[in-house]
Amino acid sequence: MEYVILDGEILNRKEAKIDIEDRGYQFGDGVYEVIRVYNGTMFTRNEHLHRLIESAEKIGMKLPYTLEEMGQQLEELVEQNKLRLGTVYLQFTRGVSPRGHAFPSSNVPLTYVAYTRTVPRPASDMETGVKTITNEDIRWLRCDIKSLNLLGNLLAKQKAKEAGCFEAIGYRDDIVTEGSLSNISIVKNGKVITHPANHFILNGITRQQVLQLCHNNGIPFEEKTFTLHDLFQADEIFLTGTTVEVMPIVEVDGKAVGAGKPGSTTKRLQQLFKQEIINQCGGLE
Ligand SMILES: Cc1ncc(COP(=O)(O)O)c(C=O)c1O
Repeated sequence: MEYVILDGEILNRKEAKIDIEDRGYQFGDGVYEVIRVYNGTMFTRNEHLHRLIESAEKIGMKLPYTLEEMGQQLEELVEQNKLRLGTVYLQFTRGVSPRGHAFPSSNVPLTYVAYTRTVPRPASDMETGVKTITNEDIRWLRCDIKSLNLLGNLLAKQKAKEAGCFEAIGYRDDIVTEGSLSNISIVKNGKVITHPANHFILNGITRQQVLQLCHNNGIPFEEKTFTLHDLFQADEIFLTGTTVEVMPIVEVDGKAVGAGKPGSTTKRLQQLFKQEIINQCGGLE
């Protein structure tokens, strides 16, 4: 039996129904998170829940639960679903109300949904590296908010898929921003460079973990913008994200990156990240 959370209650999936006038369904008016589960334990759970609370505040939504309450409920869900390796998805929308752009009154309860999925680690892609395309970033100017409105991301990912690629690397004017579901870093002369955490990107939890690993292990890094030219001149490029972990990029727009295979800094960060998962979750599977 598979369980989900609806408005703070754990239910059988079949019993969980959402109203057609839910603002998440009608407008994408809400926020979400995806948390990785390894060895039955949520990885960086509090960091994700903290970002969820922040995303909600940025769109004028006050979540009805504390971080600790949500953490506990999600742990129960993981346990009831006997999830070992996968993801927890959770979202809050601005509730159910007759369709209208302005917010409903503040006593309309938010709709809260969470569920789990079994998802393997992307082991073979992490070993070989993936191909990518570049793509103009046409999204709105608050990409720091993990909003349910993902059309710009979906169009980018679909374009990558149609090109036989794993991810689309976004750029605005000449500046590389992020992927459709991941952050991007380049390595030049041994230094990791990634876009600063501002309104143009989501400040990925994996990105933050990787920068912390760089800091702790003496790997030079800098949060600064870089151009498409820098991207094509990079020695190495990698993606970071909850589902992609540290993913080497070996091709951009049909051109090989560096030697055309995962580079040494990327591989080192993959190892360090793997160790961090084991430290925090007690295992990888
Ligand atoms: C647009 C975008 N950027 C970056 C990320 C990576 O964030 P995180 O490492 O927190 O998963 C995601 C993850 O879903 C994303 O959707």
